[in-house]
Amino acid sequence: MSITQSSAGAGASQPGLPIPKVTMPALGEMKRQGKPISALTAYDYPTARLADEGGIDLILVGDSLAMVVLGQENTLAVTVDEMLHHTRAVRRAVRRALVVSDMPFGSYHGAIADAVANAVRFVKEAGAEAVKIEGPRVELVRALCDAEIPVVGHLGLTPQSVHRMGGYRVQARTAEAARRLEADALALVHAGASAIVLEGVPREAAAAITAALPVPTIGIGAGPECDGQILVFHDLVNLTFAPPAKFVRRYGDASALLRSAIEHYREDVEHRAFPSDAESYHLPTRQTMGESAQDADFDSEEAVVNRDAFEDWPS
Ligand code: KIV
Repeated sequence: MSITQSSAGAGASQPGLPIPKVTMPALGEMKRQGKPISALTAYDYPTARLADEGGIDLILVGDSLAMVVLGQENTLAVTVDEMLHHTRAVRRAVRRALVVSDMPFGSYHGAIADAVANAVRFVKEAGAEAVKIEGPRVELVRALCDAEIPVVGHLGLTPQSVHRMGGYRVQARTAEAARRLEADALALVHAGASAIVLEGVPREAAAAITAALPVPTIGIGAGPECDGQILVFHDLVNLTFAPPAKFVRRYGDASALLRSAIEHYREDVEHRAFPSDAESYHLPTRQTMGESAQDADFDSEEAVVNRDAFEDWPS
Protein backbone atom coordinates (compact mmCIF):
# COMPACT_ATOMS: atom_id res chain seq x y z
CA MET A 1 0.00 0.00 0.00
CA SER A 2 1.40 3.39 -0.88
CA ILE A 3 1.65 6.16 1.69
CA THR A 4 1.01 9.74 0.64
CA GLN A 5 3.52 11.99 2.38
CA SER A 6 2.52 15.39 3.50
CA SER A 7 3.66 18.91 2.99
CA ALA A 8 2.38 19.93 6.40
CA GLY A 9 2.09 23.47 7.58
CA ALA A 10 0.44 24.74 4.45
CA GLY A 11 -2.49 26.03 6.49
CA ALA A 12 -6.08 25.89 5.25
CA SER A 13 -6.61 23.61 2.25
CA GLN A 14 -7.31 24.99 -1.24
CA PRO A 15 -10.73 24.06 -2.63
CA GLY A 16 -10.48 21.36 -5.29
CA LEU A 17 -6.91 20.32 -4.43
CA PRO A 18 -6.09 17.04 -2.65
CA ILE A 19 -5.57 17.60 1.06
CA PRO A 20 -2.04 16.72 2.22
CA LYS A 21 -2.33 14.82 5.51
CA VAL A 22 -0.33 16.06 8.48
CA THR A 23 1.69 13.20 9.95
CA MET A 24 3.91 12.99 13.01
CA PRO A 25 7.11 12.98 10.89
CA ALA A 26 5.76 16.04 9.09
CA LEU A 27 5.55 17.90 12.41
CA GLY A 28 9.20 17.04 13.03
CA GLU A 29 10.00 18.44 9.60
CA MET A 30 8.14 21.65 10.46
CA LYS A 31 10.40 22.07 13.48
CA ARG A 32 13.50 21.55 11.35
CA GLN A 33 12.24 24.13 8.87
CA GLY A 34 11.30 26.60 11.63
CA LYS A 35 7.58 26.54 10.67
CA PRO A 36 5.33 27.14 13.69
CA ILE A 37 2.88 24.31 14.46
CA SER A 38 -0.72 25.27 15.21
CA ALA A 39 -2.61 22.99 17.59
CA LEU A 40 -6.08 23.22 19.09
CA THR A 41 -8.32 20.95 21.12
CA ALA A 42 -11.63 19.68 19.75
CA TYR A 43 -14.13 17.24 21.16
CA ASP A 44 -16.91 16.88 18.61
CA TYR A 45 -17.65 16.85 14.89
CA PRO A 46 -18.46 20.53 14.28
CA THR A 47 -15.55 22.02 16.23
CA ALA A 48 -13.10 19.48 14.81
CA ARG A 49 -14.32 20.17 11.31
CA LEU A 50 -13.93 23.92 11.78
CA ALA A 51 -10.44 23.47 13.23
CA ASP A 52 -9.41 21.17 10.39
CA GLU A 53 -10.85 23.40 7.67
CA GLY A 54 -9.16 26.35 9.38
CA GLY A 55 -5.78 24.72 8.73
CA ILE A 56 -4.87 23.68 12.29
CA ASP A 57 -2.00 21.16 12.12
CA LEU A 58 -2.68 19.08 15.25
CA ILE A 59 -6.08 18.49 16.84
CA LEU A 60 -5.98 17.18 20.39
CA VAL A 61 -8.97 15.43 21.90
CA GLY A 62 -7.88 16.66 25.30
CA ASP A 63 -9.05 15.32 28.62
CA SER A 64 -10.01 18.97 29.20
CA LEU A 65 -13.19 17.47 27.71
CA ALA A 66 -14.08 16.72 31.33
CA MET A 67 -14.13 20.41 32.25
CA VAL A 68 -15.11 22.37 29.15
CA VAL A 69 -17.67 19.94 27.70
CA LEU A 70 -18.82 17.72 30.56
CA GLY A 71 -18.80 20.42 33.25
CA GLN A 72 -16.58 18.54 35.69
CA GLU A 73 -14.37 20.27 38.24
CA ASN A 74 -11.09 18.83 36.93
CA THR A 75 -9.88 16.32 34.36
CA LEU A 76 -9.66 13.33 36.68
CA ALA A 77 -13.05 11.66 36.26
CA VAL A 78 -13.22 11.37 32.49
CA THR A 79 -13.08 7.74 31.34
CA VAL A 80 -11.44 5.88 28.47
CA ASP A 81 -14.87 5.17 26.98
CA GLU A 82 -15.84 8.85 27.09
CA MET A 83 -12.55 9.85 25.46
CA LEU A 84 -13.03 7.18 22.78
CA HIS A 85 -16.56 8.41 22.07
CA HIS A 86 -15.35 11.97 21.48
CA THR A 87 -12.24 10.89 19.58
CA ARG A 88 -14.47 9.01 17.10
CA ALA A 89 -16.54 12.14 16.49
CA VAL A 90 -13.40 14.21 15.91
CA ARG A 91 -11.91 11.54 13.66
CA ARG A 92 -15.01 11.61 11.42
CA ALA A 93 -14.54 15.36 10.91
CA VAL A 94 -10.81 15.60 10.32
CA ARG A 95 -9.18 15.09 6.93
CA ARG A 96 -5.89 16.98 7.22
CA ALA A 97 -4.80 17.55 10.83
CA LEU A 98 -3.00 15.01 12.99
CA VAL A 99 -5.49 13.63 15.54
CA VAL A 100 -4.02 13.05 19.01
CA SER A 101 -5.99 11.73 21.99
CA ASP A 102 -5.30 12.28 25.63
CA MET A 103 -5.12 9.14 27.71
CA PRO A 104 -7.23 9.92 30.76
CA PHE A 105 -6.18 9.72 34.39
CA GLY A 106 -5.94 6.11 35.58
CA SER A 107 -5.68 4.60 32.11
CA TYR A 108 -1.87 4.48 32.10
CA HIS A 109 -0.90 4.64 35.76
CA GLY A 110 -0.86 0.89 36.50
CA ALA A 111 0.82 -1.99 34.69
CA ILE A 112 2.50 -1.04 31.42
CA ALA A 113 0.71 -3.84 29.55
CA ASP A 114 -2.67 -2.42 30.63
CA ALA A 115 -1.62 1.07 29.55
CA VAL A 116 -0.53 -0.21 26.13
CA ALA A 117 -3.85 -2.07 25.78
CA ASN A 118 -5.73 1.15 26.56
CA ALA A 119 -3.64 3.12 24.09
CA VAL A 120 -4.27 0.51 21.39
CA ARG A 121 -8.01 1.15 21.82
CA PHE A 122 -7.51 4.83 20.92
CA VAL A 123 -5.83 3.87 17.66
CA LYS A 124 -7.92 0.82 16.78
CA GLU A 125 -11.40 1.82 17.94
CA ALA A 126 -11.31 5.59 17.54
CA GLY A 127 -8.75 6.40 14.84
CA ALA A 128 -6.28 8.41 16.94
CA GLU A 129 -2.89 8.83 15.28
CA ALA A 130 -1.02 9.36 18.55
CA VAL A 131 -1.73 9.44 22.26
CA LYS A 132 -0.66 12.03 24.81
CA ILE A 133 0.39 11.08 28.32
CA GLU A 134 1.33 13.33 31.23
CA GLY A 135 4.54 13.12 33.23
CA PRO A 136 8.04 11.69 32.74
CA ARG A 137 6.91 8.07 32.13
CA VAL A 138 9.91 6.88 30.21
CA GLU A 139 9.26 3.12 30.34
CA LEU A 140 5.69 3.57 29.20
CA VAL A 141 6.73 5.79 26.28
CA ARG A 142 9.19 3.09 25.19
CA ALA A 143 6.49 0.39 25.41
CA LEU A 144 3.99 2.49 23.43
CA CYS A 145 6.55 3.18 20.72
CA ASP A 146 7.34 -0.56 20.60
CA ALA A 147 3.62 -1.06 19.96
CA GLU A 148 3.85 1.41 17.02
CA ILE A 149 1.85 4.09 18.83
CA PRO A 150 3.32 7.57 18.49
CA VAL A 151 3.45 9.43 21.80
CA VAL A 152 3.19 13.09 22.70
CA GLY A 153 4.62 13.73 26.16
CA HIS A 154 3.18 16.42 28.45
CA LEU A 155 5.40 18.08 31.07
CA GLY A 156 5.32 21.08 33.38
CA LEU A 157 1.84 21.82 34.68
CA THR A 158 0.19 18.44 34.24
CA PRO A 159 -3.50 18.83 35.16
CA GLN A 160 -3.90 15.16 36.11
CA SER A 161 -1.44 15.89 38.97
CA VAL A 162 -3.66 18.66 40.37
CA HIS A 163 -3.86 17.11 43.84
CA ARG A 164 -0.10 16.50 44.07
CA MET A 165 0.64 20.03 42.82
CA GLY A 166 -1.96 21.55 45.18
CA GLY A 167 -3.68 23.42 42.33
CA TYR A 168 -2.87 24.56 38.83
CA ARG A 169 0.49 26.25 39.42
CA VAL A 170 3.26 27.32 37.09
CA GLN A 171 6.01 24.68 37.30
CA ALA A 172 9.82 24.78 36.97
CA ARG A 173 10.10 28.20 38.58
CA THR A 174 13.77 27.89 39.53
CA ALA A 175 16.80 27.24 37.34
CA GLU A 176 17.29 23.91 39.09
CA ALA A 177 13.68 22.84 38.47
CA ALA A 178 13.95 23.99 34.85
CA ARG A 179 17.05 21.81 34.39
CA ARG A 180 15.13 18.82 35.82
CA LEU A 181 12.29 19.52 33.41
CA GLU A 182 14.73 19.59 30.51
CA ALA A 183 16.22 16.26 31.64
CA ASP A 184 12.70 14.75 31.80
CA ALA A 185 11.91 16.04 28.31
CA LEU A 186 15.15 14.60 26.90
CA ALA A 187 14.48 11.25 28.59
CA LEU A 188 11.00 11.07 27.01
CA VAL A 189 12.43 11.90 23.60
CA HIS A 190 15.17 9.28 23.95
CA ALA A 191 12.44 6.77 24.81
CA GLY A 192 10.68 7.67 21.54
CA ALA A 193 8.28 10.56 22.22
CA SER A 194 7.53 12.41 18.98
CA ALA A 195 6.61 15.77 20.53
CA ILE A 196 6.35 17.33 23.97
CA VAL A 197 3.59 19.59 25.27
CA LEU A 198 5.03 22.11 27.74
CA GLU A 199 2.32 23.60 29.91
CA GLY A 200 2.56 26.37 32.51
CA VAL A 201 6.32 26.85 32.60
CA PRO A 202 8.47 29.99 32.41
CA ARG A 203 9.18 31.21 28.90
CA GLU A 204 12.93 30.93 29.46
CA ALA A 205 12.68 27.27 30.48
CA ALA A 206 10.48 26.41 27.49
CA ALA A 207 12.85 28.23 25.12
CA ALA A 208 15.87 26.31 26.43
CA ILE A 209 14.05 22.96 26.24
CA THR A 210 12.82 23.75 22.71
CA ALA A 211 16.39 24.45 21.63
CA ALA A 212 17.65 21.25 23.27
CA LEU A 213 15.07 18.83 21.83
CA PRO A 214 15.18 17.27 18.36
CA VAL A 215 11.36 16.96 18.34
CA PRO A 216 8.73 19.73 18.46
CA THR A 217 7.59 21.37 21.67
CA ILE A 218 3.97 22.54 21.75
CA GLY A 219 3.45 25.24 24.34
CA ILE A 220 0.45 26.29 26.39
CA GLY A 221 1.33 29.01 28.85
CA ALA A 222 4.99 28.43 27.95
CA GLY A 223 5.88 31.48 25.89
CA PRO A 224 6.43 32.12 22.19
CA GLU A 225 9.67 30.20 21.59
CA CYS A 226 8.01 26.76 21.54
CA ASP A 227 7.83 25.10 18.12
CA GLY A 228 4.05 25.22 18.26
CA GLN A 229 1.19 26.53 20.37
CA ILE A 230 -1.96 24.82 21.61
CA LEU A 231 -5.09 26.30 23.16
CA VAL A 232 -8.32 24.79 24.42
CA PHE A 233 -11.05 25.49 21.86
CA HIS A 234 -13.46 26.80 24.48
CA ASP A 235 -10.84 29.28 25.77
CA LEU A 236 -10.20 30.53 22.24
CA VAL A 237 -13.86 31.41 21.64
CA ASN A 238 -15.03 32.30 25.17
CA LEU A 239 -17.16 29.30 26.02
CA THR A 240 -15.73 28.55 29.46
CA PHE A 241 -17.94 30.68 31.76
CA ALA A 242 -14.84 31.65 33.74
CA PRO A 243 -12.16 34.33 33.58
CA PRO A 244 -9.36 33.23 31.24
CA ALA A 245 -5.88 32.27 32.42
CA LYS A 246 -3.06 34.74 31.69
CA PHE A 247 -1.85 32.75 28.68
CA VAL A 248 -5.24 32.62 26.93
CA ARG A 249 -6.02 34.94 24.05
CA ARG A 250 -9.67 35.07 23.03
CA TYR A 251 -10.11 35.22 19.28
CA GLY A 252 -13.89 35.29 19.27
CA ASP A 253 -16.92 35.49 21.53
CA ALA A 254 -19.05 32.44 20.85
CA SER A 255 -20.91 32.97 24.15
CA ALA A 256 -22.20 36.35 22.98
CA LEU A 257 -23.08 35.01 19.54
CA LEU A 258 -24.92 31.96 20.87
CA ARG A 259 -26.69 33.86 23.66
CA SER A 260 -27.97 36.39 21.17
CA ALA A 261 -29.18 33.67 18.76
CA ILE A 262 -30.94 31.77 21.57
CA GLU A 263 -32.59 34.91 22.97
CA HIS A 264 -33.80 36.05 19.53
CA TYR A 265 -35.24 32.61 18.85
CA ARG A 266 -37.05 32.55 22.20
CA GLU A 267 -38.45 36.06 21.64
CA ASP A 268 -39.63 35.13 18.13
CA VAL A 269 -41.40 32.05 19.48
CA GLU A 270 -43.00 34.07 22.29
CA HIS A 271 -44.21 36.71 19.79
CA ARG A 272 -45.32 34.09 17.23
CA ALA A 273 -42.79 35.56 14.81
CA PHE A 274 -41.31 32.10 14.20
CA PRO A 275 -42.02 30.15 12.08
CA SER A 276 -43.24 32.36 9.23
CA ASP A 277 -45.53 31.15 6.47
CA ALA A 278 -42.48 30.73 4.21
CA GLU A 279 -40.97 28.42 6.84
CA SER A 280 -44.11 26.25 6.89
CA TYR A 281 -45.25 23.31 4.74
CA HIS A 282 -48.58 23.53 2.94
CA LEU A 283 -51.19 21.20 1.61
CA PRO A 284 -51.27 21.07 -2.20
CA THR A 285 -52.84 24.23 -3.70
CA ARG A 286 -56.57 24.58 -3.00
CA GLN A 287 -56.75 21.44 -0.83
CA THR A 288 -58.17 21.89 2.62
CA MET A 289 -58.38 19.65 5.67
CA GLY A 290 -62.00 18.98 4.69
CA GLU A 291 -60.80 16.67 1.95
CA SER A 292 -59.73 13.09 2.65
CA ALA A 293 -56.13 12.51 3.74
CA GLN A 294 -55.56 9.99 0.89
CA ASP A 295 -56.08 12.82 -1.59
CA ALA A 296 -52.87 14.55 -0.49
CA ASP A 297 -50.06 13.94 -2.98
CA PHE A 298 -47.35 13.30 -0.43
CA ASP A 299 -46.65 10.51 2.01
CA SER A 300 -46.92 12.16 5.39
CA GLU A 301 -45.67 9.11 7.29
CA GLU A 302 -42.41 8.96 5.36
CA ALA A 303 -41.90 12.71 5.72
CA VAL A 304 -42.03 12.44 9.48
CA VAL A 305 -39.35 9.78 9.73
CA ASN A 306 -37.06 10.98 6.94
CA ARG A 307 -35.89 14.56 7.36
CA ASP A 308 -34.53 14.66 3.80
CA ALA A 309 -38.07 14.13 2.54
CA PHE A 310 -38.97 17.57 3.90
CA GLU A 311 -36.84 19.12 1.19
CA ASP A 312 -38.96 17.45 -1.50
CA TRP A 313 -42.33 18.54 -0.22
CA PRO A 314 -44.39 20.86 -2.32
CA SER A 315 -44.65 24.23 -0.59
O1 KIV B 1 -6.50 18.38 27.75
C1 KIV B 1 -6.03 19.37 27.21
O2 KIV B 1 -6.76 20.21 26.71
C2 KIV B 1 -4.58 19.52 27.20
C3 KIV B 1 -3.91 20.79 26.79
C4 KIV B 1 -2.47 20.62 26.52
C5 KIV B 1 -4.51 21.67 25.83
O3 KIV B 1 -3.92 18.61 27.57
